[in-house]
Amino acid sequence: MKELLDKIVSDGTVLQEDVLKVDSFLTHQIDPKLMSLIGKNFADKYRDKKITKVVTIESSGIAPAVFIGLELDVPVIFARKQKSLTMSTELLTASVHSFTKKQTNEISISTKFLTSEDHVLVVDDFLANGQAALGLVELCSQAGASVEAINIVIEKSFQNGRSLLEEKGYKVDSLARIESLKDNKVHFIK
Ligand code: G4P
Ligand code: NA
Ligand code: NA
Repeated sequence: MKELLDKIVSDGTVLQEDVLKVDSFLTHQIDPKLMSLIGKNFADKYRDKKITKVVTIESSGIAPAVFIGLELDVPVIFARKQKSLTMSTELLTASVHSFTKKQTNEISISTKFLTSEDHVLVVDDFLANGQAALGLVELCSQAGASVEAINIVIEKSFQNGRSLLEEKGYKVDSLARIESLKDNKVHFIK
């Protein structure tokens, strides 16, 4: 998606050769017009797939996920990293280890929002080691829901997330694929 790649080049910053800072439009401040384009771009590929839910994880997955859900006219669920006060006791849960942050989070979705009737698009802002996405597909499989694809805004292709997910049979669809962040520059996969 050209608009996204242009935005990454103009507004992204490379930190330590493996981290891309995009807090001015995706992970902190959000560019709604860009999110809307992202939503349309993904939704166009899945309009005939009978998607019933979009599933993401808080926090930075929510913005792109909502715009995809808006386009496909389906609800958007975000897995929580902390249990909310009002959450029912019936939860689907999975643990997600972040190699980047060196911490493990228990993520959860209420059983009432995801069932075996659902056909899901999983969405996240970044794909690095694939652990968050794996946790999300685990929640879907606990619910008996099927997963059409895993939609990623920015894939760091030099990390192993995509291959891990593909090995497990999931389709990974990323709008920006980064080959490397060498020399403080973003190199995309052509
Ligand atoms: P993984 O799920 O692919 O294994 O990712 P990893 O544990 O490495 O990433 C942990 C967190 O860091 C995730 O957000 C992920 O979206 C984010 N992240 C990974 N690589 C980058 C990067 O290059 N740039 C930025 N800006 N973020 C990155 P989180 O902390 O779990 O959630 P959130 O609340 O920030 O969305
Ligand atoms: Na994320
Ligand atoms: Na993030």
